[in-house]
Amino acid sequence: MNFSKQTFLHNLAQTSLQPFLLPIERAEGVYLYTPEGKAYMDMISGIGVSSIGHRHPHAIQAIKKQLDKHLHVMVYGEYIQSASNELAKKLTSLLPSELNCSYFVNSGTEANEAALKLAKRYTGRTEIISCRKSYHGSTHGSLSVSGNEVKKQAYRPLLPDVRFIEFNNQSDLDNITARTACVIMETIQGDAGVRVPDLAYMKAVRTRCNETGALLILDEIQCGMGRTGKLFAFEHYGIVPDILTIAKAFGGGLPIGAFISSEEKMKCLTHDPMLGHITTFGGNPVCCASALATLEVIEQENLLASVESKGKLIESLLQHPKIKAVRRIGLLFAFDFETEETVNKIVQYAKEQGVICYWFLSHPNSFRIAPPLTITEQEIKKACAVILDAINQS
Ligand SMILES: Cc1ncc(COP(=O)(O)O)c(C=O)c1O
Repeated sequence: MNFSKQTFLHNLAQTSLQPFLLPIERAEGVYLYTPEGKAYMDMISGIGVSSIGHRHPHAIQAIKKQLDKHLHVMVYGEYIQSASNELAKKLTSLLPSELNCSYFVNSGTEANEAALKLAKRYTGRTEIISCRKSYHGSTHGSLSVSGNEVKKQAYRPLLPDVRFIEFNNQSDLDNITARTACVIMETIQGDAGVRVPDLAYMKAVRTRCNETGALLILDEIQCGMGRTGKLFAFEHYGIVPDILTIAKAFGGGLPIGAFISSEEKMKCLTHDPMLGHITTFGGNPVCCASALATLEVIEQENLLASVESKGKLIESLLQHPKIKAVRRIGLLFAFDFETEETVNKIVQYAKEQGVICYWFLSHPNSFRIAPPLTITEQEIKKACAVILDAINQS
């Protein structure tokens, strides 16, 4: 085993000057364990990934079963493989009929990149409309449509013809016109500090896209897969996107994303030029097997049914005069404080006491909580007691 800080800090590229630096040897359910056996409660699910808990037995079994059959055998889209077929069939059965065709990729940002390409190709238009404060990923295309200016500045020039509107502001929707290829938005803005749009707004976005022929891309990479209490967050709004992007929790701990649309739209990727989006590892059979098992766990354990009550329990337990505001949908929370320093102290203190909370990239005076959907009431009470203590100490 190698938990060398030296290697980590110098032979692995760093992305911040203050990494969390927690050595993790194994993980199970809501717990992470250090080599010394110290347990940490993962109240952020590895940033929205481990929604069925770490190493869920059903996912592990499905992964092992696939390992014994085959790993990678061919690039995306050539061989018929049971794992990706089964996953596509399952998604089609769970989604509205307009979203009957899935393309499996490697990450959230790739799903968004490909969704933007599909929208440009299908409409023959170039303008992309996105929302301020959004986060869609870290590669050039996704960065271009993300709202965090600080993160973008150093990498210009980015994609041309991208315009930003204010999230949840109906009067801005006039910016969507017959020039617009697509509107890309998170159904619930995550990194902006959990922003839940109004029902009327989301309906108006859908209507405006219909009027102008712009495609609506909903990014549910963070808010999908049951996090909000519905399998897909757009179900709260009675609308259906033209393209849906998912990743993170989709793979149950393995890396997989998808962009999902209608077969008719997806056909664009087969010609002029053919291979309109290409990936070597997209649809990796082990990742597909894990993703299918994840959907089965959500269904078989009826996880969606308890998301709201667990969310309410956390909300009722985490009350403190220092909390300036709480924004929540399902089991996705942002807690606002007066200053960034207070948030840092809370996150650090909770960590020392064995509970992992975390920041938002774009909203530093909040911390996030998004525990596994499998978390028990007892675990919630234990974690919240530590977090309250951390708030008191901050
Ligand atoms: C809403 C949203 N979109 C896209 C992404 C990018 O996903 P990935 O990190 O898998 O590229 C994220 C990641 O946090 C996200 O929250």
